[in-house]
Amino acid sequence: MLPVNPERFLADLHALRAFGAAGVGKGVMRPAFSDADIAARGWLADRMTEAGLSVHVDPVGSVFGLADGQSLLLGSHSDSQPEGGWLDGALGVIAALEVARAAVEAGGPPVSVVSFQDEEGRFGVTTGSAVWSGHLPLETADGLRDRDGESFGAARARMPGRSGQFVDPARFSGFFEMHIEQGPVLDREKEAIGVVDAIVGIRDMKVTFEGEQNHAGTTPMQGRRDAFQALSKFNTVLAERFANVVTPRTVWTIGHVTLHPNASSIVPGRVTFSMQWRDGDTDRLDRMERIIRETAQEVAASGGFELSYGPLLGLEPVMMDDRLRGALEASAAAEVPERWRVMPSGALHDATNVSKMMPVAMLFVPSIGGISHAFGEDTEEADLVTGLRVLAGAVDALG
Ligand code: GLV
Ligand code: MN
Ligand code: MN
Repeated sequence: MLPVNPERFLADLHALRAFGAAGVGKGVMRPAFSDADIAARGWLADRMTEAGLSVHVDPVGSVFGLADGQSLLLGSHSDSQPEGGWLDGALGVIAALEVARAAVEAGGPPVSVVSFQDEEGRFGVTTGSAVWSGHLPLETADGLRDRDGESFGAARARMPGRSGQFVDPARFSGFFEMHIEQGPVLDREKEAIGVVDAIVGIRDMKVTFEGEQNHAGTTPMQGRRDAFQALSKFNTVLAERFANVVTPRTVWTIGHVTLHPNASSIVPGRVTFSMQWRDGDTDRLDRMERIIRETAQEVAASGGFELSYGPLLGLEPVMMDDRLRGALEASAAAEVPERWRVMPSGALHDATNVSKMMPVAMLFVPSIGGISHAFGEDTEEADLVTGLRVLAGAVDALG
């Protein structure tokens, strides 16, 4: 077994949290290309150098620590949601760093490390790894805008030390991503490790209803073209129509709404909102998209609204690689017999994009209370260390 050092691993995890530490508990605000994110990536690059890895910052700001020659790649992302926790992404990056250090100390096997940029989708959906894998053309990514209107192209220009070149994926024999579960299953069942079998797919797009802005006191209810009412009706009808199509695992979310001009005494003239849906089955994702577009069209036609859509972003569901997954299962069985399971991932991960270029596998540790994408996200330190050991065992077995 590689001689991983739990104290050094936990100390680095806490050190990374200091970049953008916010809110109560162990909250973090470190969105892609924020000052905190850029500083954290600089800190990480220094740790990679200390570990004997060659730092390569790719054109979109993903930070690689490269071992010489052919190696396994381990990692995740160090950007956070606008309000996030200290472990989402950070855990996989720091676990990767610790395994790479231990591998250097043990004289092998070679392990490279990555922190992908904008996994959390300030601009797109897993933007950094989507560009690296070729799933998202760089020119398209550059045109994506965050909710304040800044473009990905302008944001990435602020990241120092970028190379003009992407890393050649052929130098990696496979990719492991360790992550928190971000759901309730392992915590509820008192299990320590989840080995992922598949990652769900996602679709995400912006929808706009344009009605008529007017005075909230003098405009009769009859004949208003109130954009908020369009959204409200769309949401209600959509839920009714989805009922015939979805499974208990299907999810959809309207997570961001911009109402114009957003004032108490004005009938809102325009609403733009995010529409996101996720499922493990591509056909179901497609059917849901048709229902979304039909419902929006009907709401628009019945109330006299203009309807428009932003770009459709998405990732297909993917299966994990049998050999890499088998190494994680064997390692989990040795480390925590009877306290691990095979499970799907309902969250997105960079591993989906990386699977287009090499074999990938993932492991989960429990999330206390199933909380994530919130300041309250946390995991028992003993569980973090168990995950580190299981990852190191799998790397050792494959190396
Ligand atoms: C990634 O964080 C996701 O939204 O699943
Ligand atoms: Mn994540
Ligand atoms: Mn996340």
